Amino acid sequence: LRHLLTVEGLGRPLIEQILDNAESFAGMNDQGVKKLPLLRGKTVANLFFEASTRTRTTFELAAKRLSADVLSLNMNASATTKGETLLDTLRNLEAMQCDMFVVRHADSGAAHFIARHVAPHISVINAGDGRHAHPTQALLDVFTIRRHKGELSKLRVAIVGDVLHSRVARSQIHALNTLATGEVRVIGPRTLLPAAVEQLGVQVYHSMEQGLKDVDVVIMLRLQKERMQGAFIPSEHEYFLRYGLDAKRLALAHPEAIVMHPGPANRGVEIASEVADGPQSVILQQVTYGLSVRMAVMSMVMGVSPQVRA
Ligand code: CP
Repeated sequence: LRHLLTVEGLGRPLIEQILDNAESFAGMNDQGVKKLPLLRGKTVANLFFEASTRTRTTFELAAKRLSADVLSLNMNASATTKGETLLDTLRNLEAMQCDMFVVRHADSGAAHFIARHVAPHISVINAGDGRHAHPTQALLDVFTIRRHKGELSKLRVAIVGDVLHSRVARSQIHALNTLATGEVRVIGPRTLLPAAVEQLGVQVYHSMEQGLKDVDVVIMLRLQKERMQGAFIPSEHEYFLRYGLDAKRLALAHPEAIVMHPGPANRGVEIASEVADGPQSVILQQVTYGLSVRMAVMSMVMGVSPQVRA
């Protein structure tokens, strides 16, 4: 594993190896082992051209836990705002002997572009590009499902809401299907589902009442208005009435179903506070597991891991 740009095309053994390595890091964390020397001497540059709370900070913390040196650049305050090209910025970071770029960008394909142009010793991790992919989010999500619900082949998973604009949903669908999840459903209005979405290997529902029936995992998505240029944007109130997850709707799912959300969550738009803060919510555990999964990915792209060499 040199770069991690998308989940698409990662085989099941590799995904399972990432999850197993993340499990090792989570276990060490549970035992109070907070710092490991695996990336000592390596330099990680976080290049976030788009807003982030969870991904940026967990990548930074994961790198520090692995003993790497970390540069977290605010790209909106970098010399790119003075006209420096992205490639010139990369060349300068290469001159500082960086080993890894963690990249978030509003344009789909940005991380691939960077991966094609970096020096051969540098690894690139996609931390979210446009509406295309968010591989570490999908990996931490399947890690969360595996930890809470066990074997995925026995599970029904519903992804609810704005799938059309969601890089998270696209990556989740690839990860869930690669791991042979029992059934993957998407629930949403036609205007917020991609054309021919069923070709991604999902069951399609337009009604929460039908789609949530007996599911083991409910993954809620935010309305991604920043990517809806020119598209029909539903009223938040109307949207909540038809597709919001409240306690009454959650009761349609399996009684032990878990509720997930990649964040940031918009309370009262796609999820009610009674559910986001309720006993079935694992939303904050997702954030905690994100640290272990990102430690696994960062160590593997650098050719070291707590178990097997990638
Ligand atoms: N899930 C996620 O990508 O959150 P951030 O935008 O806060 O990183």
